[in-house]
Amino acid sequence: MTATPVDPTSTPAWSQLAALAEHFEPDLRGWFAADPDRVARLTHVAGDLHVDLSKALLTDEVLAALLALAEQVQVAERREAMFAGERVNVTEDRAVLHTALRLPVDAHLEVEGRDVVAGVHEVLERIYDFARRVRSGAWTGVTGERIRTVVNIGIGGSDLGPVMAYEALEPFRGEGPECRFISNIDPTDAATTLAGLDPATTLFIVSSKTFGTLETLTNARLCRTWLLEGLADRLGEASEADAVAQHFVAVSTALDKVADFGIDPANAFGFWDWVGGRYSLDSAIGTSLVLAIGPERFAEMLAGFHTLDEHFRTAPPERNVPLLMGLLNVWYTNFLGAQSHAVLPYAQLLHRFPAYLQQLTMESNGKGVRWDGSPVTTDTGEIFWGEPGTNGQHAFYQLIHQGTRLVPADFITVANPAHPLRDGDTDVHELFLANFLAQTRALAFGKTAEEVRAEGVAEAVVPARVFPGNRPSTSIIAPELTPSVLGQLVALYEHITFTQGIVWGIDSFDQWGVELGKQLAQQVGPAIAGDAEALAQQDASTRALIDYYHRHRRQ
Ligand code: F6P
Repeated sequence: MTATPVDPTSTPAWSQLAALAEHFEPDLRGWFAADPDRVARLTHVAGDLHVDLSKALLTDEVLAALLALAEQVQVAERREAMFAGERVNVTEDRAVLHTALRLPVDAHLEVEGRDVVAGVHEVLERIYDFARRVRSGAWTGVTGERIRTVVNIGIGGSDLGPVMAYEALEPFRGEGPECRFISNIDPTDAATTLAGLDPATTLFIVSSKTFGTLETLTNARLCRTWLLEGLADRLGEASEADAVAQHFVAVSTALDKVADFGIDPANAFGFWDWVGGRYSLDSAIGTSLVLAIGPERFAEMLAGFHTLDEHFRTAPPERNVPLLMGLLNVWYTNFLGAQSHAVLPYAQLLHRFPAYLQQLTMESNGKGVRWDGSPVTTDTGEIFWGEPGTNGQHAFYQLIHQGTRLVPADFITVANPAHPLRDGDTDVHELFLANFLAQTRALAFGKTAEEVRAEGVAEAVVPARVFPGNRPSTSIIAPELTPSVLGQLVALYEHITFTQGIVWGIDSFDQWGVELGKQLAQQVGPAIAGDAEALAQQDASTRALIDYYHRHRRQ
């Protein structure tokens, strides 16, 4: 990574985009009418993903300027540097190689003298072997009973990816164990997640890249206590250490800390500092998913990731879907004033996908300085949010359709649902798809005052019933939500995020912005617990809130 990022605002392409934005008059109705090839020209295929950008606020001139911008800020060079294992995570002085996690076993990637692929597959094989033993019943709990439930203890990237993927791929679980997830340090999370479980048939995976995260270690200790108390009368000849060994495994880059916690390093799966937390679903952090869906399905997911990696690396810019979607987001954010981005899966199984994307995109690109430490030269980051359709339609779509803010939206669906059901003669998935299509149509083309009047609406309410249209959306559709398609979707958004980060000149792979709160929590904790000196060091608002807590808590 060169010392100084290219300032995007200094490029000719940026000036051109600014000039285009100044006189930009979006007209999706007109553009569609004037150009019968628009859909064909702006629809692209990446792996199994069919991506329709025709309802984007995009003209040929804007597209050309965006592609020129990508060239001028050197997206392709940065992409190669990342894939090659250069230390593109500058502030942490690390390579960024989540793409190596999904390289096929016969691939070669040597980084700083080490064969990365061999290491990746060695760990994968250990995880696969463990998963086969648990799934077959060869690995039992300490009382000899089969493992029925797996509880992943982790937070952030050590939780959001596994839980999102587990929910998404539930139809592929078959006889695999049920998985539950504890992330929050709110004790309610552990209490409600463990409720009803039998310790004898429960396996815990403590997932933490650093093995130093307060929430995860606290929850791990709570779970260990719960396990030992629950098994106290059933241990027979076995010791507590035996119980922990049979019921606790760990996933981490810090195997020494795993041992300190009391988990046998033989029951730990490692990964590497070049895997960022929010990019770690396809590392050992996915162990709960391997247990649930089995090694073969997990391998299919990795292959799906790799398909999109190859697409991002090799597809020409004008057909490169992650590149185009990343550039479009720059257009919306930096030139058309969009502040947020909706992700709307029309697939109930993807209900945690927006939450997953929030960490991926916002922890990556919510930065105010560039990778050389200088201030950013333009707005960065987008606020990602969303809910599955059609639920969102009955909640917040009003604002997207008629509000004063521009909210670009990604609509995601599949041709074949996991659970095809009929309501009499009606295929319910078709009803669902009709909503997907209707929404993107309404957003793009709106409804004019004339069309409203033609319906006999009283003049006084015509304005309220007009839909302005020209609200941009991207439609993504795949044949069905297989493990491979899920991997492709995640990799798509990883590379969109990367593209935006390069344009803005930021290090998308650090997350220093989460540190201050962690440090302050260490200082506030003693103040809450009654340490007068620590209390005196707090600001007046914090002291008053602590006072409220003490006056109201039950003794
Ligand atoms: O606090 C943010 C963060 O560092 C995330 O980036 C990460 O995914 C999460 O915490 C969990 O970290 P760990 O896996 O080290 O417990």
